[in-house]
Amino acid sequence: MGARNEVHTDLLVVGSGIAGLTAALRASRTADVLLVTKTELAEGSTRYAQGGIAGALDPADSAAAHARDTLGAGAGLCDEAAVRVLCEEGPTAIRRLIDLGVAFDRTGGPDSSYAMCLEGAHSRPRILHAGGDATGRAIENALVAAVRERGIAVREQSALVDLRVEDGRVVGAELMTADGTRCVVRARATLLATGGAGQLFSHTTNPAVSTGDGIAAAARAGAALEDLEFYQFHPTALAAPGSFLISEAVRGEGAVVRDEQGRRFLPEHDPRAELAPRDVVARAIARVMDAQEGRPVLLDATGIGSIRLRERFPTIDAAVRAAGFDWGRVPVPVTPAAHYWMGGVRTDLDGRTSLPGLLAAGECARTGVHGANRLASNSLLEAAVFAARAVEAALSGCGAGAVGAGPAEVPWAVSVPAGSAPGLSVLTGTAATARPDRPSPAEPSPAEPSPA
Ligand code: SIN
Repeated sequence: MGARNEVHTDLLVVGSGIAGLTAALRASRTADVLLVTKTELAEGSTRYAQGGIAGALDPADSAAAHARDTLGAGAGLCDEAAVRVLCEEGPTAIRRLIDLGVAFDRTGGPDSSYAMCLEGAHSRPRILHAGGDATGRAIENALVAAVRERGIAVREQSALVDLRVEDGRVVGAELMTADGTRCVVRARATLLATGGAGQLFSHTTNPAVSTGDGIAAAARAGAALEDLEFYQFHPTALAAPGSFLISEAVRGEGAVVRDEQGRRFLPEHDPRAELAPRDVVARAIARVMDAQEGRPVLLDATGIGSIRLRERFPTIDAAVRAAGFDWGRVPVPVTPAAHYWMGGVRTDLDGRTSLPGLLAAGECARTGVHGANRLASNSLLEAAVFAARAVEAALSGCGAGAVGAGPAEVPWAVSVPAGSAPGLSVLTGTAATARPDRPSPAEPSPAEPSPA
């Protein structure tokens, strides 16, 4: 391949959901970043997330309680250190999104505080939503706007073909554009943020781009993968052509699940019934569907009422009605559908994979926070927390080595002014140059404020 089809950057980010956009924004303060994405910048699973982002923001809540719920849902297979990081750093990650302009829903009460909702296996309401059921869209839009405003280099319609590995180190990737043109990006570090692979399954809540490209490329490059056997099925996708997610938050508002005779059966499986962990609910529904020769069960949201359904869940309400169901009056058919891959490219707490030069964050990464079953609304949170950590660790000189490989190689050059905070190493890499147009990592950027 000729040099004309080769570009160089400090950090190559593959994928443009919450993890990729967060990483690109944070890295762009001190490094050259190229973000590539398979279709359009705003496309990917993030923008379809309905249920929100969980975090112990309420003074009556605590990171410890959130961690307990996360560990409980994970069926004893979570990495406790990763869960602690997720729950302790989650509120800061959420405040960064608020600072970027994400307007999470408020109570409308006198103090107008954030509305905290309940979802399955949470011991208290701690889920933030935006636009009722359009949380992912609000987050994606805010991050995309910030990436555009920051002038970060973006290549759309560029699919990952393979990672480039030289002498055991990932040095970038080969991409293919929509017209079949191939190009190589050489990078000091490559961060995979390519999401999951719901399209492997006949029923999925995931968009068409969720085809597991990043995890497959990492496997071909020799990266360690873990927990691939744990694929989460969301209990309630509309059982109609073009299957559509009906958020767990609908059950949080009081909807119940019935068999085709109209009988509630979930209380027999778990005292938390409709709000038991997702795997418990999905398995119970699958058993009943087996007994019904595959016919779907019914989600009964009639107790919530048409007005509240439209106000609280405008996106779902429109989709369910477009499919021909008046769900304020009659129960609608639902089925479990492939939703989220808990497994992926194994990383440590700073996004480092087993391959030097390769970082991963978001759904394609296996950080260990989800164990065998992800707690509702922990996915956006995980992506926001660990993408930021991956970039910060790399910038401070401890990222992008191999997991467990001892002192890490540095992914890109960062010049830090003399006398800046200890721990921010002056990295040498191949070309350490000061960038007067960019703030140092210690300095907050106006478009991406420091944590409160
Ligand atoms: C949902 O809204 O039920 C999905 C939220 C999630 O996947 O955590």
